[in-house]
Amino acid sequence: MIILGIESSCDESAAAVVAREDVGGRPRILSNVVLSQTSAHRPYGGVVPEIAARAHIEHLDGLVARAMDEAGLDYAQLDGVAATAGPGLIGGVIVGLMTGKGIALTHKKPLLAVNHLEGHALSARLTNDVGFPYLLLLISGGHCQLLIVKGPGHYHCLGRTLDDAVGEAFDKTAKLMDLGFPGGPAIEAAARSGRAARFDFPRPLKGRAGCDFSFSGLKTAVRQTYDALPDPRPQDVADIAASFQAAVCDVLVERSARAMKRFRQEASPPRPFVAAGGVAANDEIRTRLSAACAEHGFELIAPPASLCTDNAAMIAWAGLERLHAGLPDDLNAAPRARWPLEDLGNAASPH
Ligand code: KG4
Ligand code: ZN
Repeated sequence: MIILGIESSCDESAAAVVAREDVGGRPRILSNVVLSQTSAHRPYGGVVPEIAARAHIEHLDGLVARAMDEAGLDYAQLDGVAATAGPGLIGGVIVGLMTGKGIALTHKKPLLAVNHLEGHALSARLTNDVGFPYLLLLISGGHCQLLIVKGPGHYHCLGRTLDDAVGEAFDKTAKLMDLGFPGGPAIEAAARSGRAARFDFPRPLKGRAGCDFSFSGLKTAVRQTYDALPDPRPQDVADIAASFQAAVCDVLVERSARAMKRFRQEASPPRPFVAAGGVAANDEIRTRLSAACAEHGFELIAPPASLCTDNAAMIAWAGLERLHAGLPDDLNAAPRARWPLEDLGNAASPH
């Protein structure tokens, strides 16, 4: 099975071709091209939806041609075309989905209108041998959720953020201290020379029942601390970055440990705990999650950093899994700005 994937839900324009061998079922990434628009958005300190949509229009066709070329395939050899249909910035989603529909229609291939979150959720199965069910911590710029993944289209949410997404908290903290955009990698870099013990930032919801998250109080505390410094020096910024990152790690680890306790009965050891989404590229978070997994009888599985942040290989892979499960879409599939994972077709499994 060979699938072309297209991603355009935020500020990465991307195309990829992914295959699964008929015998053995091993996935292979035949090509994976990503064009990041960060330099176009940097002057504004965040993603500007109109600029993003226009850039997707300009670049997607060329990226698709390059992905096909690098894979050494022509369109007739594809088994399907997968494109992100949401959630995301609606202008960009429309551009990518219409591109996918055009290719699917022209070459008479099935269309897979992929939920971007499902792309992140299944990405670990592209790089690792992970069976269902598994526990998933999905941490990105727009989302922060703990889920049980039972199969394509089968998600049970254990907890989610009540306010900001964790990536958003990284981005806003970085912006506050003029560390640049995107904020996650900038905070991680600054934190390397910082003292995490200097500022005792709040750990919202830590110790409370359930698996929900909250990050807005942490963000406010960082702002108050930064604003109170008369003349912030690079060491102050590094210390705030390290203290902020430590608070985020503590919260992610504590909430995840609660989810592990709830999930223990569902699988035998080593139980898979998958971390995915852009924030899962963070080394400190991976290290802390890995230790928590070891403590609770789980194994941490996180795709390489380049497949944690937005890419089209994960969209192609999710499309492949959905086609394999007999879940193709028709050409009327609608682009969606909001699209929770639990709203996917067959997600009605009781838990
Ligand atoms: O998954 P992603 O590429 O896009 C969304 O679906 O949102 O995630 C982007 C988010 C941004 O907030 C970015 O700052 C964050 O992931 N991020 C990181 C790191 N790399 C990207 N956060 C913390 N540490 C990183 N190394
Ligand atoms: Zn994403």
